[in-house]
Amino acid sequence: MAKNVVVVGMAWGDEGKGKIVDLLAEKASAVVRFQGGHNAGHTLVVNNVKQILHLIPSGILHEHVQCYIGNGVVVSPSALLDEIKQLEEHGINVRARLSVSHACPIVLPSHIALDQAREAKSGDRKIGTTGRGIGPAYEDKAARRSIRIGDLYQWDDAKERIVDLFAYHNFLLQHYYEVEPVDVEETLADFARFAVEMRPLVKDTLAAVHGHRERGENVLFEGAQGAMLDVDLGTFPYVTSSSTSAGGVCTGTGFGPRYIDEVVGVTKAYATRVGEGAFPTELQDETGKYFAEKGNEFGATTGRERRCGWLDAVALKHAVHMNSVSTMCLTKLDVLDSLEKIRICSAYEFSNGQAFRGEFGERSLRAIEPKYEELDGWMESTEDIVDVGELPEEAIKFVHRVEDLLEVPVGIVSTGANRAATIVRDDTIFN
Ligand code: GDP
Ligand code: IMO
Ligand code: MG
Repeated sequence: MAKNVVVVGMAWGDEGKGKIVDLLAEKASAVVRFQGGHNAGHTLVVNNVKQILHLIPSGILHEHVQCYIGNGVVVSPSALLDEIKQLEEHGINVRARLSVSHACPIVLPSHIALDQAREAKSGDRKIGTTGRGIGPAYEDKAARRSIRIGDLYQWDDAKERIVDLFAYHNFLLQHYYEVEPVDVEETLADFARFAVEMRPLVKDTLAAVHGHRERGENVLFEGAQGAMLDVDLGTFPYVTSSSTSAGGVCTGTGFGPRYIDEVVGVTKAYATRVGEGAFPTELQDETGKYFAEKGNEFGATTGRERRCGWLDAVALKHAVHMNSVSTMCLTKLDVLDSLEKIRICSAYEFSNGQAFRGEFGERSLRAIEPKYEELDGWMESTEDIVDVGELPEEAIKFVHRVEDLLEVPVGIVSTGANRAATIVRDDTIFN
């Protein structure tokens, strides 16, 4: 029976969602992005060839897959067109298989300027954004001022609204942030051209995605960022500006909750975070450095060094609840290969001894102490293992312990960046 499957990050992003979506897309007819923008960086490695995707869904490498950018995604036309061009240079026929919702709010150059100016002015309170204008673009959506992709095709009206919006953005840039304004004439000229280039891609993606469902085809929804960066449910205010959790699929694509069959939650076998904000299991020691080096933990979008720490089962349990995760994917197991002892955070405790009752905001996460349990490492290579029977006993124990703590099965274990470096323990995700 065909299924509609959501893939989400369970932590602070970069869990390996791109790899898992690319893998699962083999059996899907459509892959749909539902939130975020070009702040995302999803890495796909097939036969040692690496592709980093920001806006384009991670199904694009499969010729049989249609890719959709749903209405919940904020779209920078220049970032999108650059990404299409880059993939086309690799011989991937993007335009025949990519559709963009007419309802996507546009990320304007002034949003990027505002994002960067605000971060610069915030000093110690900065969020550590990707500087891609994502926050200001979502603000304009909530304020009902966005220019949406479909608006570009009523150009006279769009032009007037862009000029009005720039007057407001430039007022803030010059008089509040005290930085240079953004040239509206240049933006108008660029956008007139972008509109023409994007025209064949702009569709009613809602109807098209339901078409796949009605024809009994498998549909995959690809999350960006992770549960702990969700604007409502994450470590506010150190979050992104969209609904990163599975609920975002419904509003971000127009696909109602009862149509969703499975929610696949992706987590690394340890934890990372880019940007500021609470990170209870963060390690600022040799083990932290080990994760960063062995895991090659540098941001796929900004190149920033990622902060690293132990797997946090308390935060992941929050992700299980908010996403209704039915199956987990545990990625980067191979990164633990050389550790003698492996820790898992299984509880939080406030320093005054009070019990933690699921307050995941920034303030309480700064006040808690993580409590760990320790497992033996396996001290041998699991890299590129594809057969569960070949995993060392201690590695299997680690996987079982994660399952026990989270009360969700681990259906897929990833043992390397390549698509092929994967152990499928449960192949029923699409069956
Ligand atoms: P995403 O944003 O969730 O798609 O994740 P990113 O692509 O930003 O970061 C994940 C990084 O880990 C990428 O460089 C992947 O190529 C790499 N990766 C994914 N799975 C594995 C794995 O099982 N082992 C190793 N060593 N690397 C992996
Ligand atoms: P993928 O999809 C990791 C983080 C930023 C910052 C916060 C807000 O590759 O997992 P924003 O630019 O969104 O306003 O920044 O969110 N962030 C990510 N961290 N992976 C991502 O995407 C991220 N997208 C945003 O570092 O802390
Ligand atoms: Mg990433």
